[in-house]
Amino acid sequence: MADPTEQQERRRAFVRAYTRVQAPPGLPELRLHLGGEVTPLWQLTEAELDREGVDPPFWAFAWAGGQAVARYLLDTASEVSGLRVLDVASGSGLCALAAARAGAATVRAVDIDPFSVTAIGLNATLNDLDVQVACVDLLDDEPPDVDVVLAGDVCYERAMAQRFLAWLERASAAGARVLLGDPGRGYLPRDRLVRLAEYELPTTPEVEEAPLRVVGVYTLR
Ligand SMILES: C[S@@+](CC[C@H](N)C(=O)[O-])C[C@H]1O[C@@H](n2cnc3c(N)ncnc32)[C@H](O)[C@@H]1O
Repeated sequence: MADPTEQQERRRAFVRAYTRVQAPPGLPELRLHLGGEVTPLWQLTEAELDREGVDPPFWAFAWAGGQAVARYLLDTASEVSGLRVLDVASGSGLCALAAARAGAATVRAVDIDPFSVTAIGLNATLNDLDVQVACVDLLDDEPPDVDVVLAGDVCYERAMAQRFLAWLERASAAGARVLLGDPGRGYLPRDRLVRLAEYELPTTPEVEEAPLRVVGVYTLR
């Protein structure tokens, strides 16, 4: 088995090699390592891991829901300023980075994809921001004691949306403010949400068909 430090360095080299540093659409304040076409990058990930059936490289793209949460935090810093923030399903880390840029006291970003964790670390360094990162699935546990939970674009599959919503509701019941970003994906439970903001944002063409999408930022009822 590869040495963990060596493995982490290989992943960093992989992310640097197959991405380009650029501002995500609609977020000129941030810079991210972003990918080109999805399929070749996905194939390269499978080759790197010597495994088939790995998750798509979500970490290499800014998803519309995350773009909206990040935009909202950069425009409304009072939502997170001085507070403890958790970004679940962080992907590239854009929501976590926006929270840190908006003055959060602490920011933790979690994702289940080890490449995401690598990318978030690189993206935090790139933006000179402090984000704690972990490769973990928190959804079977009690939500941690934080003030704000961010979730960008987590309602794109039925089972996943149900699991996330149940956990976000527990976080909310425990006192956290939940901020969920979504462009109207099929499994968004609108009846359980209150819309805080809406943006028409330019999209990442590799992952969205329309060049612009209307994206909402919601909290739980
Ligand atoms: C569509 S991407 C959104 C990424 C980012 N929030 C954004 O808006 O750009 C969904 C992310 O959820 C992550 N994910 C899926 N299930 C998860 C779980 N149970 N816990 C944490 N992350 C999860 C995936 O690895 C992926 O990075």
